[in-house]
Amino acid sequence: MDDTERGLANLELLTSPAGDALLARLAGTELPAGAELQLSAALRRDYPAELVIAALAQHELRLRARAKFTRAEQMWLTREGLEQASAEPIARHRATRYAGRARVADLCCGIGGDLIALAGASGADSATQVLAVDRDPLHLRMAARNAEVYGVSAETWLGDVRAADLSGVDAVFVDPARRAGGRRLRTGESEPPLAWCAALADAVPAVGVKAAPGLDRARVPAGWEVEFVADGRDLKEAVLWSPALSGGVASRATVLPGAHQLLPEPGPAVPTAPPGEFLLDPNPAVTRAGLVEDLARQLGAWKIDPRIAFLSGDRPARTPFGRALRVLDSGPWREKDLQARLRAHDVGALDIRRRGLAGDVEVLRRKLRTTGSTPATLVMTRVDDQPWALICVDAPAV
Ligand SMILES: C[S@@+](CC[C@H](N)C(=O)[O-])C[C@H]1O[C@@H](n2cnc3c(N)ncnc32)[C@H](O)[C@@H]1O
Repeated sequence: MDDTERGLANLELLTSPAGDALLARLAGTELPAGAELQLSAALRRDYPAELVIAALAQHELRLRARAKFTRAEQMWLTREGLEQASAEPIARHRATRYAGRARVADLCCGIGGDLIALAGASGADSATQVLAVDRDPLHLRMAARNAEVYGVSAETWLGDVRAADLSGVDAVFVDPARRAGGRRLRTGESEPPLAWCAALADAVPAVGVKAAPGLDRARVPAGWEVEFVADGRDLKEAVLWSPALSGGVASRATVLPGAHQLLPEPGPAVPTAPPGEFLLDPNPAVTRAGLVEDLARQLGAWKIDPRIAFLSGDRPARTPFGRALRVLDSGPWREKDLQARLRAHDVGALDIRRRGLAGDVEVLRRKLRTTGSTPATLVMTRVDDQPWALICVDAPAV
C-alpha cells in the first residue's frame, strides 16, 4: 500500500460512523507534548487501534490547520496538503480577482484552500462555478469535502492538469506543487513548471499563478503583473496575473489584513540624504515589488542610501506599508562605541536589523548585553555607502 492508498483507506475509516464518533470525541481536545500516548491508550479501549491512530493524526492536523482556516476542526487534511494550502485570508484576497467569472478552473487544487475561496465562500462572486483538478485522489476527495465544510461545492476531475478539459472555463487559477514525493523542490522549480502555467493563457486568457515569494522577477512573462502578498510583515507569496486579470501594472504590493495595495507611482527620482527624525522600514512585499521609491514619493520621504531599502522623513509615516521608527541616535558604525551609545538611551530589550552591513546579529546581541528599560531597535546599515548605526524606538501610531 502506498501513502495515497493508505490515506484513502484512512479517510474511509474516519468517515465511517465509528470514525465520526471518535473525531467528535476528540474535537476541542488539545494535544500537549507527551499526552498522546496516554490518550491513545484510553481510546484504544473503545475503538480499534487502526482507527485511533488515523483519528489522532487527523486531529493533530486539524489543530495545526487553525493557523490557516477558521473551520479547521471539521476539515480533511494530509500533512503535505496542509503545508501547501493557501490560508483563508490570502485565498479570499486572491479570489476577489475572479469575481464575476462564470466558471473558474482551480488547477492543482490540493486539499482545497483556494477552491473554498474561489467557489465563493468568502469574497468571490458566489455564482462562480469551480472545476477543481488534482492528480492526487486523496487531495481531490478532501478538497470536495472541505468545500462542503464551507458550504460551497465544486466539480472535481482527477488527473494531470495537462490533460484537463478547459472548454467553457473563463478563468484559471493554478497553484503548482513545490513539493514532490515528500521532498521540497529546488528554488524556482514547481510541478507543473512555471512556464507551463504561464502558457495556459494561450488557451484561457485570464490566468493567475501562485509562486514562491522568492520568485526571480526575470521569470514574470512580459505584460503580466506580479503581486507580492504579505500577512503583516510576513511575506507569503508572489502571484502572477496574466494581462486579462492584471491591474495594468507591472507589480503590486499587498499587505493583509485589510488588503492594502501599493501600486507603482511614477515620478521624480527620490533624493538621498542623511537620516532625519524618523526611519521607515518598508514591508518586504514593497521591497520585493520594487516599490520602495514609489512609497517614498507617496510619503514625501527620502532614501538614506542609494542602494538600501530604508526611508527617512521628518514626520512619522502613516502607512500600512512599513514600520515607522523614531531615531534616537544616528552615526557612523563603530562597534566599540555602541555600548555607550545604547546605555545613554537606557536601552534594554534590543531588536537588531541589519541591511547592507555584514555581521552576525546574535553574536553582536550577546556582546552588547543591554540592561536598560527602553526596548529599542539597533539598525545596522549604510548611509551614503558608509557603515552606519541608528538607535530607534517604535514611532507612535499617528
Ligand atoms: C501547492 S498544492 C495546492 C494547494 C491548494 N491551492 C490549496 O490551497 O490547498 C499542489 C497540488 O498540485 C498537485 N499536482 C502537482 N502536479 C500536478 C499535475 N501535474 N496535475 C495535477 N495535479 C498536480 C499536487 O497533488 C498537490 O495537491
